[in-house]
Amino acid sequence: GAIFRPLPSAVPPSPNSNSTKISVIGAGNVGMAIAQTILTQDLVDELALVDAMPDKLRGEMLDLQHAAAFLPRTRITASTDYSITAGSDLCVVTAGARQIAGESRLDLVQRNLALFREIVPPLAEHSPQCIILVVSNPVDVLTYIAWKLSGFPSNRVIGSGTNLDSSRFRFLLAEHLEVNAQDVQAYMVGEHGDSSVALWSSISVAGVPLLGSLEKQQIAYEQEVLERIRRAVVESAYEVIRLKGYTSWAIGYSVANLARSLLRDQRRIHPVSILVRDLLTGVPSDRDIFLSLPALLGRSGVVGVTSLHLTDDEAACLSRSAQTLWEIQQMLGL
Ligand code: NAD
Ligand code: LAC
Repeated sequence: GAIFRPLPSAVPPSPNSNSTKISVIGAGNVGMAIAQTILTQDLVDELALVDAMPDKLRGEMLDLQHAAAFLPRTRITASTDYSITAGSDLCVVTAGARQIAGESRLDLVQRNLALFREIVPPLAEHSPQCIILVVSNPVDVLTYIAWKLSGFPSNRVIGSGTNLDSSRFRFLLAEHLEVNAQDVQAYMVGEHGDSSVALWSSISVAGVPLLGSLEKQQIAYEQEVLERIRRAVVESAYEVIRLKGYTSWAIGYSVANLARSLLRDQRRIHPVSILVRDLLTGVPSDRDIFLSLPALLGRSGVVGVTSLHLTDDEAACLSRSAQTLWEIQQMLGL
């Protein structure tokens, strides 16, 4: 029944004009944290969910739809069939095995490679112009795999990478310095995992480089504190997994933050996993490796990469991180 009388001048918009769509593959802890953060931040017109478990998937979809009275209007759909993802601007892949206590991210690679063979080709087929954002672990190797399986140009295949590690880094530095984490600039780069690299030279607060000011004040013990903070960043996920079984909220915000920069063409710089061919000294240029570097993100995906001024130590750590990832990729036989 008509509740309102349409005004003669109101022309309905054509279905796809300017409407944005994100698909989230995997409706587990991580996928649902991402979905709910995207909804609360009013980032899209349509959110499609895909999972292999139909009942759980429908339950999650209904539960989100039931929040309609409290959220910006967003069409929420779900199916085990990838046709639901058609016409996506961004596909976020979170499906797959996660670590149990004691496992490293790299331990998951074979299990999740098999899943990616089922997931990535239909995504690429239904949304040939989309950006693929990989979250499943080990995220750097799986981003490489998604790039290979999709046939997409590398600027449209991105891993969430160390955007999360960098937030953990900024949080711990901010706690130590007693300032807001948003005023702390600091990057973790390299593998999202055990070999991630802290860019000490990148840390600044309100534009003041931290290390420079420490060295002037010759506060040696502060450098030990910083090293403890770096170790705590690497340990963060293990601690949360030991305590609650998985990580979810921080990666939810991290991915919504990336989705905003991409879809709203924000040209913000995020440390995310990208193809580093020819970008790193010490990594042979014929090696296709994805790892995190500070990258400029916009509507077309990766728009640029920030030039890094690495210390010798940082460069050595980063090429060790690249070597670790390269060795894993070699075992995959892709
Ligand atoms: P989870 O077990 O809660 O969810 C995984 C989901 O994937 C399940 O709902 C499962 O049904 C679904 N799934 C399995 N096979 C599928 C298929 N073929 N197609 C579609 N869906 C399928 O796990 P989680 O805690 O949500 O973690 C998911 C992944 O995210 C893990 O690999 C985890 O390590 C990773 N993760 C990455 C980051 C990061 O920073 N990159 C952070 C947290 C977690
Ligand atoms: C993280 C996951 C486990 O929270 O990669 O860092």
